Amino acid sequence: MSDLLPLDVPTASRPQQREQAAIRRQAYPYRFPRDSRRLGGAYTVADSVARLTRFFYLERRLAQAIGAWALAIPDFEVKVESGRHLYWHADAARRLRERLHEQEKRVGAIDAFRDADIDRLIDEVLSAADAPELLVGVHQVLGRALETAYHHHAERTCQIADAPTVRVLAQILVDYQPMLAWADQAIAAYVAGGIDQARLERWRWHCDRLLASIGGVTGADRLGPAPTGLRSVAKPFVRDTAPRRDARFETFDRTGDYDTADGGARLAPGYEKERLGFIRAQRDEIDAIEAFGTVLWDIRFSDFDSEYRLARMVWDEARHTEIGNRSMMALGFDPFELPNRLTPSTCRGPMEPTLALAEINMVGEVGVLKMINGIIDEATSRGDALMMHIADHIRADERTHVRSGQVVMKNICDLEVQELDQRMRAAFTRCLYEIGAITKGEADVGSLSRESLEHLIGE
Ligand SMILES: [Fe+2]
Ligand SMILES: [Fe+2]
Repeated sequence: MSDLLPLDVPTASRPQQREQAAIRRQAYPYRFPRDSRRLGGAYTVADSVARLTRFFYLERRLAQAIGAWALAIPDFEVKVESGRHLYWHADAARRLRERLHEQEKRVGAIDAFRDADIDRLIDEVLSAADAPELLVGVHQVLGRALETAYHHHAERTCQIADAPTVRVLAQILVDYQPMLAWADQAIAAYVAGGIDQARLERWRWHCDRLLASIGGVTGADRLGPAPTGLRSVAKPFVRDTAPRRDARFETFDRTGDYDTADGGARLAPGYEKERLGFIRAQRDEIDAIEAFGTVLWDIRFSDFDSEYRLARMVWDEARHTEIGNRSMMALGFDPFELPNRLTPSTCRGPMEPTLALAEINMVGEVGVLKMINGIIDEATSRGDALMMHIADHIRADERTHVRSGQVVMKNICDLEVQELDQRMRAAFTRCLYEIGAITKGEADVGSLSRESLEHLIGE
């Protein structure tokens, strides 16, 4: 037996065994597919951990960042889609976190990781002048750079030894592909509708240069010169507190009651009125996207699990909004003919996160669950397939939210339930009085009951 390679380890193969092995191999009947992957890659475990930690941090920060803009995005489609994207980023962070833990990084150390360069970049991306600029920074600068880095990492790392990382990145990219394609189309729609393309290009160039100045998303690229004149330095980013809607919407915030807002009841009391109220409340859960997104931003870094749970609720509420919107059309409405209830977000927007979360969890979602069984029963007895379908799925989501939200509450709030309930009801009573939804007399009686809040604020 000859070996042409000057290997430093002798093969120590025994000719007889080798021949026997060849004979057995020849006689074996099955020719399975050949695995073409090669052993060996560019990264050690330590290299992988260093890069994946940055990826994890960027994904975590992007989820938080979209949450910070939840109130401020006016356009319906962009708000709903961003709710979905927020969760894609949080879920990417979760997958990377698990992989990092498998590569022996302590969960506490992963969660405690901070990077001042990345923070500076995120602060600048958050300082977008409007939603089109936000999409440019989040998707066309950071999203695009991460997508490239994930492909690059997945190709260069060992396909066999580091296959779990390859798989994690491939799973993340499943979400990235449609997300980035949608963002390109949305930005093109903004430009076609009159947003100055030069302004967006200028912003993209600026954010790209800032990213290059920190070595790109991996930190390993050649450093470019840092741009001067950062908006976030001139004026630190502060999240908006007022909910915004686009020009197609008619909104109301001086009452939480649909009949009052409509200037009279559309339908007589009964099943059809209840059905329309339920569907409107779902479409108007655009405010629940805002609530959970804002809370995620406000409690950022307190606890990864809480951030992740909130992110998931943001996506679910984006789906409820879509369900409401589609159902309005299924009932024959143009969804924009039905005024949108801004009352909940008007109150929650400036509120401290624990109180906003307490209301949506303890009052809003519990309120939905109180009525939903009755609605499903009634829909079933009438053969109302639309309501049976949507309420069935929403019930499962909201039950999950009530449980998941309680876990978050425990993680972020030390108050006893009773005290939290009192403070929450007092804060919402004050807000409802200030915006004119209740009279001074009603406010003077004391804090509103959960039932009244259910009616005026809801989820
Ligand atoms: Fe919901
Ligand atoms: Fe919910």
